[in-house]
Amino acid sequence: MKYDVKNLKLSNIGKNRIEWAERDMPVLRIIKKRFLKEKPFKNVTVAACLHVTTETANLMITMRAGGAKVFLCASNPLSTQDDVAASLVKDFGISTFAIKGEDNKTYYKHIKSVLAADPQITMDDGADLVSTLHSGGYNLKNIIGGTEETTTGVIRLKAMAQDGVLKYPIIAVNDALTKHFFDNRYGTGQSTIDGIVRATNVLLAGRSIVVAGYGWCGRGVAMRAKGMGANVIVTEVDPLKAIEAIMDGFTIMPMSDAAKIGDIFVTLTGDIHVIDKQHFMKMKDGAIVCNSGHFNVEINIPALKKISRKTREVRAFVEEYTLKSGKKIYILADGRLINLASAEGHPASVMDMSFANQSLSAEYLIKELSQSATAIAGSRQGGKIRNRVYPVPQEIDEKIAKMKLDSIGMKIDKLTPEQKKYLASWQEGT
Ligand code: ADE
Repeated sequence: MKYDVKNLKLSNIGKNRIEWAERDMPVLRIIKKRFLKEKPFKNVTVAACLHVTTETANLMITMRAGGAKVFLCASNPLSTQDDVAASLVKDFGISTFAIKGEDNKTYYKHIKSVLAADPQITMDDGADLVSTLHSGGYNLKNIIGGTEETTTGVIRLKAMAQDGVLKYPIIAVNDALTKHFFDNRYGTGQSTIDGIVRATNVLLAGRSIVVAGYGWCGRGVAMRAKGMGANVIVTEVDPLKAIEAIMDGFTIMPMSDAAKIGDIFVTLTGDIHVIDKQHFMKMKDGAIVCNSGHFNVEINIPALKKISRKTREVRAFVEEYTLKSGKKIYILADGRLINLASAEGHPASVMDMSFANQSLSAEYLIKELSQSATAIAGSRQGGKIRNRVYPVPQEIDEKIAKMKLDSIGMKIDKLTPEQKKYLASWQEGT
């Protein structure tokens, strides 16, 4: 088999870093131990399209421990850690198709290489794998179900289900509380700041940072930027989230006003052209602009190119655009996920819960849906399992929260019988 990794010698570094991440993934370690014994994925092929990081490596190793044949490609052309890809291939024998900085053609070639394995389970982050699988020419007969990691992917898949084109059930891992409360907020919060700092080495204290979008990810970034001493401005389209941002102590204003005062801009909306030509025109000389949303569509870079007279790379992941007026604007990582492009993504201890959700949701799909092909077909046609997006079962979410708490040695109170009785009664309590 031909492996598309740049340099297999990198694998030693990758292996050590994978082990380092594993130390902070106690929940996944427990799951791996059980999977090794129970082999829930015996004879199951899993196609995964995820950011190829040390944390993802541990998820892949866990799935393999459960008996799965695992095929992995990147969910973003810039997020791959080449040493990890090399180690997965060399040390763990996991087929990995990913190179940091791959072009669009190679990115899709790698997705197709993974799909050629004829998977029963898909694991996606952003829904590029699933949408390619639905693009025609693929046999979906063997597919049991899939999981989706991120907000953007869940939105895309729900749109596919709504249009009646989704051909198999998917579990929205993103929507589990043990995922988005922690990964989206604390993970994105820390790793986005990490990405900006690693790319630029600028001091955040005293700067005006504009955070576009106050979903879970935006909340995390705003909170951490404030902690670093920045003056945080939030832009929103949702009145409820805007009120929340105000009560959390941030200034709210439209992007057209924020553009004039921001030193650093971060987009986390999931939508297109949140920073557009009219905003670039208003920005200060030296403004730094980056994105931490899934796709590189939030910043209208083609519009910026049109109003610029030259561009040059001033340091890794920092592109300088000189406008016709002479003003300079700096775009980080070509508008791609800054936390994964110039840093290493979320730390292992939050990915522990996200990937516990991935592995247990995949196991749930196998246990619930793979009794027989007829059962799947039957249940899909008007039966209880439809081709739509499902939440992570609550028992799984709660179990992961308990395991995480246990693993860090924290104990909590239990309701007394009297308290349980009180909560179950609707009569005024005595
Ligand atoms: N998404 C954000 N951070 C990540 C990480 N460290 N690994 C995989 N996916 C991620």
